[in-house]
Amino acid sequence: MSQFPDPNTLLQEAQKQIEQVRSLDALEEARIAWLGRKEGRLTLLLKQLGGLSIEEKKLYGPQYNSLKARLEELLAAQEENLRSQERRRALENDTLDITLPGAPVAYGHLHPLSQIMDSLVSIFRSLGFVCADGPEMENDFYNFEALNVPADHPARDMQDTFYMESAAKQLSLPHLTASHADQEPNLLRTHTSPVQVRVMQKYPPPIAIVCPGRVYRHEAQDATHLAVFHQMEGLMVDEGISFADLKGTLGRFAQLLFAPTVKTRFRPSFFPFTEPSAQMDVSCWICEGAGCPACKGSGWIELLGAGMVNPKVLSGMNIDPEKYSGFAFGVGIERIAFIKYGVHDLRLFYENDTRFLEQF
Ligand code: PHE
Repeated sequence: MSQFPDPNTLLQEAQKQIEQVRSLDALEEARIAWLGRKEGRLTLLLKQLGGLSIEEKKLYGPQYNSLKARLEELLAAQEENLRSQERRRALENDTLDITLPGAPVAYGHLHPLSQIMDSLVSIFRSLGFVCADGPEMENDFYNFEALNVPADHPARDMQDTFYMESAAKQLSLPHLTASHADQEPNLLRTHTSPVQVRVMQKYPPPIAIVCPGRVYRHEAQDATHLAVFHQMEGLMVDEGISFADLKGTLGRFAQLLFAPTVKTRFRPSFFPFTEPSAQMDVSCWICEGAGCPACKGSGWIELLGAGMVNPKVLSGMNIDPEKYSGFAFGVGIERIAFIKYGVHDLRLFYENDTRFLEQF
């Protein structure tokens, strides 16, 4: 019976081997080596039991069967052991290290022109103005006629104004056709001044409004000219409003926008809807008036157009010019961006190149 080794010796050998196994694959190899259906060591021994005498079968049978059961237990225990080790490892690798620096989140922000409009509005809010709005598609009445723009004014020319196709066809000479407030929109507003008209039409004085918005001009685009750009209109109408109010308000605005030391100067100008009219310059806050490249050596930077509301405009809106007076101004948003940030090609504000926009 020497071909039947002692079951305990076999058990010890198998146990040692199983305990040393470090992976599920190696464990499967060990299982096949002992219990594999064809070549397993114990399987072969069990097969040989069939050829033994009854007494020998009785002796070895139970011993080898319990050895087999024991091996199966050991394999199952080791499998469970390896699986739980694997789970623990996975959990350890998965742990969240809250001390690691986080991946930065890229935030969007407002477009620089929107930022400027917001800051202009908030400056004027602090001075008691409210924000008003009007349509971008206008008609002759609001864009020109109610603003005292004469019928033959060059600004009404199709070279300067975008007319809607139907209107342009119909109005080969647009100024010869009488225009009315209730006329269909037939052009894209060339300035924000029509909002003045709409506000005066709707609300009685006192009025103190600003209206930022998009405007359109039939221009060939280059670094300093755009066909679509932005303005902010301002209008104040009440009893006793004088040019001093205009100067005081716009002077304060320039200081709040640029620097507290900024000075303003007014030069005569002309707009059909204001009388008198002026251009307002601000002293260059970079060189403080000494002259530098930003102000082209003059010490002054041209900022906006303004004036006292023309009495004809007031009476057209049924506001008595004997009782009420007002001032108005219009400021270019891109112009402020140009001055404030030194961006000398305005087209950059419309190209949406994030490398440019991220700088604001
Ligand atoms: N509407 C004028 C322009 O577009 C600006 C302006 C507004 C001037 C109000 C005076 C008063 O140039």
